Amino acid sequence: MSRSTPIYAAMRSIGAYVPPKILSNADLEKMVDTSDEWIVKRTGIRERHIADPDVATSDLAVEAARDAIARAGLEHEEIDLVLCATVTPDYFNMPSTACIISDKLGIRNVQAFDISAACSGFVYGLSIAKAFIESGMKRNVLLIGAEKFSSIVDYTDRSTCILFGDGAGAAVISATENRDEGIVDIHASADGSYADFLMTPAPGSVHPASCEVIEQGLQYVKMKGNETFKLAVKTLTKDVKEILEKNGIPAEKIDHFVPHQANYRIIKAVGDALKMREDQIIVTVEKYGNTSAASIPMAINDIYEEGRLRYGDLMLLDTFGGGLTWASALLPFAGKN
Ligand code: UT7
Repeated sequence: MSRSTPIYAAMRSIGAYVPPKILSNADLEKMVDTSDEWIVKRTGIRERHIADPDVATSDLAVEAARDAIARAGLEHEEIDLVLCATVTPDYFNMPSTACIISDKLGIRNVQAFDISAACSGFVYGLSIAKAFIESGMKRNVLLIGAEKFSSIVDYTDRSTCILFGDGAGAAVISATENRDEGIVDIHASADGSYADFLMTPAPGSVHPASCEVIEQGLQYVKMKGNETFKLAVKTLTKDVKEILEKNGIPAEKIDHFVPHQANYRIIKAVGDALKMREDQIIVTVEKYGNTSAASIPMAINDIYEEGRLRYGDLMLLDTFGGGLTWASALLPFAGKN
């Protein structure tokens, strides 16, 4: 490929993994003051998968990544950038989970780093992969969203513990000369003035690890759920409308609307605002809960494995999460079936 030829970034494959253990709403009823009825009505979630204590985020990621690399028809040595979107890294400071994943996959001597954008991490990562590929710096990017979210959940807090699950999704994003295969557009944004809507207060430079941090439970995720919900609906509706309008694509032309799986009511509200048909909207929240950065690639993998995702299908992704961060993307699937 000569440097004068325009290069596009194509999603060549998808893969995902969830740990086998299931935490059902009935299990949660025994742990906190909640009910299956409340959880299903307010969130759409019926169960989520939880990793065993000796399983790390990188272990989940590696399983998803192996499938994605194989489905892209690549050897591990052909990957030249490893990106891992996560807020539940193997180690909080260093090394990055992307480095651990690279080692476990036998991918050595290539650039590897983590992306911290909470639930928006995978779509943020897509924009990074696109920029690296279109600039000619990289050819095959392994992009992973992986979370062992259970490691930061307080299972005595009913307002958060019912929501989150563990899992990983991965995609290979590769260079192509075929414009029709390329990512069409990505919007990614943030507003740090809402930082306290969704956060883990410790450990970090503000609250380094200490006995007090543990006693106060500052290592657990805290969320202003209702405020986050309202802002998510408002922001996402505006964002997806903008990306469709900017690219002259009417909502009915989208084959698969793949929203972040935080709450069925958010997905439904945004879908309704776009006048999406039910068959266009991908919903997996009932079986995985909110898996943060893993939720979008896991949902894409679900429709891939069901045989519903075909080469050339147009996808609209949207996501919203801690930061606050949000993002949307328009892209065709450019993988083999
Ligand atoms: O992924 C990143 C982005 N995340 C999100 O977008 C999540 C957004 N937020 C949500 O999904 C929802 O706000 C929740 C599912 C977290 C909560 O639903 P809500 O309809 O916003 O409920 P609420 O927080 O306003 O609470 C309503 C009531 C409260 O009781 P009172 O004060 O009305 O007596 C809560 O204490 O529901 C109570 N409640 C529960 N009851 C039974 C909160 N959690 C539970 C629970 N079981 N698990």
